[in-house]
Amino acid sequence: MGQAHIVHRSDITVLEPLLTIKGLKVYYFSRSNIIKAVDDVCLEILHNGSLGLAGESGCGKTTLGTALLRSISSPGRIVEGSIILDGKDISTISDRDFDRLIRWKKIAMVFQGAMNSLTPVFTVGKQMKEILDEHQFTGNVSNAISESLSQVLLDDSIVGKYPHELSGGQKQRIIIAMALLLKPQILIADEPTTSLDVIVQAQVINLFKRLKKTGLSIIFISHDLSVISELAETVGIMYAGQLVELGSTRAVYSNPKHPYTQKLIATIPRIKDKDNSLQFLKGKPPDMADLEKGCRFLDRCSFAMEVCNKDPPFFEYENVKVRCWLYK
Ligand SMILES: Nc1ncnc2c1ncn2[C@@H]1O[C@H](COP(=O)(O)OP(=O)(O)OP(=O)(O)O)[C@@H](O)[C@H]1O
Ligand SMILES: [Mg+2]
Repeated sequence: MGQAHIVHRSDITVLEPLLTIKGLKVYYFSRSNIIKAVDDVCLEILHNGSLGLAGESGCGKTTLGTALLRSISSPGRIVEGSIILDGKDISTISDRDFDRLIRWKKIAMVFQGAMNSLTPVFTVGKQMKEILDEHQFTGNVSNAISESLSQVLLDDSIVGKYPHELSGGQKQRIIIAMALLLKPQILIADEPTTSLDVIVQAQVINLFKRLKKTGLSIIFISHDLSVISELAETVGIMYAGQLVELGSTRAVYSNPKHPYTQKLIATIPRIKDKDNSLQFLKGKPPDMADLEKGCRFLDRCSFAMEVCNKDPPFFEYENVKVRCWLYK
C-alpha cells in the first residue's frame, strides 16, 4: 500500500500514515432536514499510497473529498471527527491557516466535472497563473506552469489556448495540472475519468499511474470499479454515508465480504459487456435525511438477520475491515 514512511521512536518503529481520518461526520443542514452525507468514516492513507473510494451515486464520496479540502458545499459542515495530516490535526486550524498552509499546497483536488467549468474567456495560462497568485506563490510563475504541464504530458504551447480550443482529454489534463501547481502531497481526484471516451479514459488512467511514481498520494473517487482496480492499492466501499468495507484492492475484489460489496463487484463484467446503467441492485439506498437505526443496507440485503437492526461496527476479518454483523 505505497511506500512506508518509517518513524523511529525511542523504542519502537511505527508506520506513520500521511493522512488519518477519524470518526468523520459531515452533514448538510437545511431547514427541513439533516442529510448525514458522511457518517463516521475512518480511513488512512500512507505516504505515496493510493486509495480508491467507490459506491453508488449519493453515498457521500464527493462530500468526503471536499471535507478533506475544507470545501464542502453549502449548507454542509463537519460536525465531528479529526483529519490528521503528517501528525497534525488540520480539522481544528483556522480557515486562514488552512488556506495558507494546506489547501492546494498539501492537499489538492480535481473536482468532479471541473473540466467543464474552466472559464471560457481566459486562456489556460491565465487560469493557471491565477491559482498561483491566489496562493501568494513567490517562485517563477512560468517555470511552475510548465513544470506542472509537463507532469500531465502537455507542452507549453497550450498556455495561450482557450478552453473551447481543447479536447476533453486536454481539459482534464489542464485541471490535473492546476491541482499539481503547488506540489501537493495528496491529490483527490473526483471522477477523473467520467465523461471521457474510452481511449481518453485510458490515457488519463496512465497519467495517474505516472503521477503515483512521483511519490504523490492519491485518493481516486469513482463509481467505476474497473478504474479503481487499475489505480488504487487500497479500496474503500461506501454505502449511504458510511464506509462499509476497507482493505487492499486485491483482497476486496477477489473476495468481497460485505453483501453490498459482493453485489457491486459482481457487476464489473456486466459493465464491460453491455449494460452500464448500474441498475444492478434491487431497491434504493436509504433516504439520507431519514436514516433508521441499524445497518443501512438492511432492506436490500439477502443475509439480513435480527442483529442487523443494531448499527454494525467495523469487524476486522482476513485483513479487511467490514461493517457487517456476518463477520462478528
Ligand atoms: N450542497 C448540498 N446540499 C444538500 N445535500 C447535499 C449537498 N451536496 C450533496 N448533498 C447530499 O449528500 C449526499 C452525498 O452526496 P455526494 O455528492 O457526496 O455523493 P457522491 O457519492 O459523490 O455521488 P455521485 O456519485 O453522484 O457524485 C447525497 O444525499 C446528496 O444529495
Ligand atoms: Mg460525487
